Amino acid sequence: MDYANIESPKVKEITENLDELLASYQVYCQKLKAFHWNIKGKSFFEFHLKFEELYQDALVKIDEIAERILILGYTPSYTFKAYLDKSALIEVHEIPSERKMIDELLLDMNQLLKIEKTCVKIAAEHCDCGTVEMLNRFIAYKEKISWMFFTWLKVDLTKK
Ligand SMILES: [Fe+2]
Repeated sequence: MDYANIESPKVKEITENLDELLASYQVYCQKLKAFHWNIKGKSFFEFHLKFEELYQDALVKIDEIAERILILGYTPSYTFKAYLDKSALIEVHEIPSERKMIDELLLDMNQLLKIEKTCVKIAAEHCDCGTVEMLNRFIAYKEKISWMFFTWLKVDLTKK
């Protein structure tokens, strides 16, 4: 039974993708906290605040993903072990330099975007509009943050 009345055998596949996204977001969120707590140097105030803004946003999204899985009739993962097993992202074991933090977050966001775009494609094919709407918002937000981080790195991807 799914509360969205999608009635497609593909719902399971959608929820598996969402569960991978949930696990990956948990690792991403914890990494942001680690960077928020341990950032040092001249950009401390700037990035301490920015990382907090990003992990608060990630916490809201984590809740939304888990509840979407429930709406689709499945149970979201809820243990750290399951998150580490299912996450496409690797957790942080050492605190990198400020520059490397941004590089790593850009890679992580790219990975999250990949999962989301795969999931949007499957969900759209099966008229799962709620999942598509949710993921479209997540995608647009991360694309904007990526642009900001690339700009901070002085990497210009615009076509002249
Ligand atoms: Fe804090």
